[in-house]
Amino acid sequence: MSAEIDLQAGFTVLWGHNGAGKTNVLEAVYLVSTLRSFRTSDTSALVRWDAPGASVELKAFDPKLDTSTTLSVRMDRRGNGARRTASADGKVVRSAAQFYGRIKAVLFTPEDLAVLRGSPSGRRQFMDRVLFARDRAHITDTQAYEKLVRSRNAVLRDPVSPTQKADLLATYETGLAEIGARIWSRRVEMLSELSDPFATNFARIHGQRGSNPKGGDGPVAKATLRYATKLEEKLEREVPAEERNDTLRSELERRRFDDERRGGTSVGPHRDDLIVELDGQPAGEFASQGQARALVLAFKLSELESTAALTGVPPILLLDDVSSELDPTRSAMLLETLVSAAGQCILTTTAPHFVALPGGVEASLVQVDRGTLGEAVIARKP
Ligand SMILES: Nc1ncnc2c1ncn2[C@@H]1O[C@H](COP(=O)(O)OP(=O)(O)OP(=O)(O)O)[C@@H](O)[C@H]1O
Ligand SMILES: [Mg+2]
Repeated sequence: MSAEIDLQAGFTVLWGHNGAGKTNVLEAVYLVSTLRSFRTSDTSALVRWDAPGASVELKAFDPKLDTSTTLSVRMDRRGNGARRTASADGKVVRSAAQFYGRIKAVLFTPEDLAVLRGSPSGRRQFMDRVLFARDRAHITDTQAYEKLVRSRNAVLRDPVSPTQKADLLATYETGLAEIGARIWSRRVEMLSELSDPFATNFARIHGQRGSNPKGGDGPVAKATLRYATKLEEKLEREVPAEERNDTLRSELERRRFDDERRGGTSVGPHRDDLIVELDGQPAGEFASQGQARALVLAFKLSELESTAALTGVPPILLLDDVSSELDPTRSAMLLETLVSAAGQCILTTTAPHFVALPGGVEASLVQVDRGTLGEAVIARKP
């Protein structure tokens, strides 16, 4: 079974019943962009249960270079899993880092809300995914870093001779500090760059009189982003960018004994966190459900704007079920903000009237029904 869709330059609205296959289309675009699903880490779950394989092909046109590319991802069942093959214009691309981000997409799903309230590891992944799309070196750095953490931990737990242990640890720590400092710096820079647009977008999506979380008609709550490192907490000072490598290395060395006892590496970017605050209060505990949504959307919008500024082309925005999640006023404000910021945008909804696009804006409405895509209907509000 197969389906094909032409995406408009602006908005495409996929609508249909629950389980019709709307999110599936977003997942397909996301897969070509990032080589993974946002729903599952099991590639074989992307293949129809009764089929030997599946593939997604995406034809993209770059207006700046006036060229088109065909990107595709194939999945073939192998044992309990599935093998993934990515190609560009018919040529297999073996390295994931080389394929990632050829098509840039920014995704919002209702599940993103869990990031705000969930564990730090979810937020680290959230930051890294933003960076993966901008800088391939970040993909290889995080892979190498994780490997070094595992190696250092293995040595810490291993009964090798003390001199051999010290030598091995020193080697791993040098690598961890060097790569760790780069990961740390990229995250800090990205957050500081997104910080102002994030506050502005939050005020735009959420802000209106009476929305002050303290109640009443006070000023709109101020949303802020901050990078929190275990290391700076312990040292009780900020570490400037040029000192991050050395500080991380000497701290790793100093903590060998402690880390050995606990059997793991206790400082470094794999232990850090992203702190989102509303008027100085941690949003994870403090924000209402609607505010949490607006915060995550504001972050995604800022990501979109900054990627657009960086590359000259706005990424494809994938919005899963967002309108039914917001109240009508905020939904309208979000869509108005999107009209000015987004390039191509694919939205899903159970009924088209949930997506109240501003007047004069054209959208292509496509009905999704039991895995098939209907004819596009162009709609425009006067
Ligand atoms: N591996 C698979 N093989 C066959 N069907 C699958 C597989 N994985 C998911 N499905 C089915 O695909 C369908 C499409 O799901 P999808 O999440 O795209 O629906 P949706 O239109 O977004 O629904 P909702 O409005 O509830 O979010 C679901 O019915 C789901 O059970
Ligand atoms: Mg869905």
